[in-house]
Amino acid sequence: MLALVALGAYLLGSIPFGLLITRAMGLGDLRGIGSGNIGATNVLRTGNKGAAAATLLLDGLKGAVAVLLAGRIAGPEAALVAGGAAFLGHCFPVWLGFRGGKGVATFLGVVLALAPLVGLICCATWLLVAKLTRISSLSALVAAVLAPVWLALLGPPGSVWLGIVLAALILARHHANIRRLMNGTEPRIGAKG
Ligand code: G3P
Repeated sequence: MLALVALGAYLLGSIPFGLLITRAMGLGDLRGIGSGNIGATNVLRTGNKGAAAATLLLDGLKGAVAVLLAGRIAGPEAALVAGGAAFLGHCFPVWLGFRGGKGVATFLGVVLALAPLVGLICCATWLLVAKLTRISSLSALVAAVLAPVWLALLGPPGSVWLGIVLAALILARHHANIRRLMNGTEPRIGAKG
């Protein structure tokens, strides 16, 4: 049963909404724009705020839906498995040769569904750092690194381990961003960069 849940959640997570939305709207191939990432931050670099908002929402929703459906059908352990699998689907989608996104919106959706209060704290952390710095990657990194701490305090049993693994993967997926942050060349939100 858990294997089926993982497969279903992976497939849901692997839908590359950013790529599909920008293609459908004739905004070009996202992988040739800005950072080349398929997430909402890079969609914003096309100049289309609606497309970026839709990408953020749908990438988040696929994580949340995977967790909620799995939890309803197969219980709390399955919800954790589904959250991890949806995240992996987004980052390593079979349809794109396993070269997907950085997982931030899907991570937020997963955490919101697993532990709503922790999810809200993570979103608030992202927003606060974004307001102060106008840098999406830095906001994501701070929110992701703190998430396991909040999950340990306020999340359901076992969620802290999922939080640690996903936060580590988010750090790894942002290696190029971290390099740019360190040499001061990371673009601000909305800049064409
Ligand atoms: O959510 C992805 C964000 O943290 C960084 O995106 O396109 O600037 O690499 P990008």
